[in-house]
Amino acid sequence: MSIHRRDLLVKGAAGGAALLAAGAAASAAPRTHSPAARPRPPAGPGKHVPVPLPFKASSLTGISERMIKSHHDKNYAGAVKNLNAVENDLADLKPGAPGYLVAGLRERELLFANSVVLHEHYFGNLGGRGKRTGALDQRLGADFGASAWEAAFHASGAALGGGSGWVVLAFSLHDGSLRIAQSINHTQALALGAPLLVLDMYEHAYAIDYGADHASYIDAFFENIAWEIVEERYHRAHRAFAALG
Ligand SMILES: [Fe+2]
Repeated sequence: MSIHRRDLLVKGAAGGAALLAAGAAASAAPRTHSPAARPRPPAGPGKHVPVPLPFKASSLTGISERMIKSHHDKNYAGAVKNLNAVENDLADLKPGAPGYLVAGLRERELLFANSVVLHEHYFGNLGGRGKRTGALDQRLGADFGASAWEAAFHASGAALGGGSGWVVLAFSLHDGSLRIAQSINHTQALALGAPLLVLDMYEHAYAIDYGADHASYIDAFFENIAWEIVEERYHRAHRAFAALG
């Protein structure tokens, strides 16, 4: 559902008190998650380094330490390594390089760059207790229905079970709407969509713990969402949308 920018700002203001209250409650409760990572300056081509897990690997419910460490240390770190390699290869291209070579490297660059971004958001929104409060909760209820959005998000993940891809709750910086988008093979994404909540549906994210039972993995994912982080992303996207005018 698209909404008018002014309506969004009014809604945002109305939700501000709830957001502050939720933030106070979150800060009063013990937590296992590090604060949300702030945007970092670009590392530069070929110089990216993996971001550590923002929570203790053994602290998740229903997602084992072995599973999350394998995912982080092998799959995510591998994407960072490959992004560096392809960026270096692009930098080494000679003038007049064949178009197929340039196109192939650019396609891989996009794939690995998106993989890095999505993985960092995925790990960043885990490590919590799955309790949803605050302005985003109110907005999801208003836009989708109190529980309907969660069912839609879950179904979008289940639809990718046995395959590969991502489910992203995104804030559109184009029109201020919230959208549930699927990203297949890392390269499909909502244009101008700021990721708020990211679910990895590649089998490497759950096969060690659940085999082909992707539905149970999605249930575990919801139990571990750090909603205070997702809420902060929403707040940040809200400010960016307002600033873009
Ligand atoms: Fe992954």
